[in-house]
Amino acid sequence: MSTDAIVLLKEDHKQIRRLFRAFHNADKATRAETVNQILEALTVHTYIENEVMYPEVRRLVPDLEGDILESFEEHHVADLLCAELAGLSPDDERFDAKTTVLIESVTHHIEDEENDWFPKVREALGRKELQEIGVRLTEARDKAPRRPETPSALKTVADAVLS
Ligand SMILES: [Fe+2]
Ligand SMILES: [Fe+2]
Repeated sequence: MSTDAIVLLKEDHKQIRRLFRAFHNADKATRAETVNQILEALTVHTYIENEVMYPEVRRLVPDLEGDILESFEEHHVADLLCAELAGLSPDDERFDAKTTVLIESVTHHIEDEENDWFPKVREALGRKELQEIGVRLTEARDKAPRRPETPSALKTVADAVLS
């Protein structure tokens, strides 16, 4: 299996898009489980990008700093939606609507990564560097959280930051 960072992340994206399609095709019985799978896939993927890919690209390709900062903010919005969804009953009238907004926003985010700045990273970095980042992404995956932060945990963070 390739350890090229961009190949690894694009494989994740493919899996995430597959889950998004599954949600659109799901019936009432499979919807909640599909959303659980989406939350897990996004939590892990966002974590490994936040911990490894984004800081490394920011360090090695300073020209992309603006794209990285914007991407961090998009992750933040996705994290908030994931945390809210994790605490929402599938019977809640907002469940489908919130999932749809999450899917639209993450789809846009993934397109920006794949079409906009991943190609610039590939241009700027050598094969070896991308493989080294790939190894670290794989290591980060092993210790990544599987579930979104609960809203109460987010509240603790907010309190700590604001106090
Ligand atoms: Fe991302
Ligand atoms: Fe991504």
